[in-house]
Amino acid sequence: NEVRVFAPATVANVASGYDVLGFAIDAPGDEVVARFSDQPGLRITNITGDNGKLPKTVEGNTAGVAALDLLRHLGLTDKGIEMEIHKKMPFGSGLGSSAASAVAGVYAVNMLLGEPLTKKQLLPFAMTGEASADGAYHADNVGPSLLGGITFIRSNEELDITQLPVPENLWAAVVHPDIEILTKVARDILPKEIPISTATQQMGNLGGFICGLYNNDLGLVGRSLHDVIAEPHRQKLIPEFYTAKQEALSHGALGFSISGAGPSVFALCEGEENANKVAEVISKVFTDNNFGNQIHVSRIN
Ligand code: HSE
Repeated sequence: NEVRVFAPATVANVASGYDVLGFAIDAPGDEVVARFSDQPGLRITNITGDNGKLPKTVEGNTAGVAALDLLRHLGLTDKGIEMEIHKKMPFGSGLGSSAASAVAGVYAVNMLLGEPLTKKQLLPFAMTGEASADGAYHADNVGPSLLGGITFIRSNEELDITQLPVPENLWAAVVHPDIEILTKVARDILPKEIPISTATQQMGNLGGFICGLYNNDLGLVGRSLHDVIAEPHRQKLIPEFYTAKQEALSHGALGFSISGAGPSVFALCEGEENANKVAEVISKVFTDNNFGNQIHVSRIN
């Protein structure tokens, strides 16, 4: 008896929704295999794709922590379960790598046990898993990785999450330049306070983005893709950020910003063809400046 699950990468913040908006993309993502074993307790038997960075202890990675938290909740910590973790995306990429592992871990174990909990009920365990890596408690990566589509989190403390409607032809062009940014560093460089005028702009854009999704109004979605809270500070960590943004917008992207804590960047686009074009011009900016990079184009659904 064995299950194999996949949890996708995610783009958190989505410009105006710092810690409260995120969406899932088709690939990359992490895979977890879980099976019963005769030896009591949860064990990790194999980890691949981590360049040897993760210890094989249950507490040493987000998948193990999330799964163990679920087993505790169910009173099943003695149950013999083996887990394999196959990491298929880099750490510190801004694509929700630790969240994807946490989601895959908890989802796999829940499935192996015959799904005692619903997907939504798994969220707090996935969040505990992710928090063990970046020390912050926010659902904008685990939410969409677990539930799919675009999610809005009214409150991270109360875990009040809503899945938002996705306009039919909405695509994401995501480009990951080969540098590593630690989420903690990217959080620490943000100011502790912001002026009311900044908060007002961000609220307008967040509301506009959500209205645009509900009304299928891609014009409004595009006009709302602005981040006046995190992007002005974090862009310094990303080479040629404004050149890439300029290129994306001048080639028809609806909007462009940083994916999560970076260094990945994303553009939302109408249609696959435009998303491919936009990904290409962003990628070229990095390549021209000697930064290797990977492109991920995905329909949002
Ligand atoms: N909302 C988080 C941040 C996502 O921007 O710090 C990173 O995991």
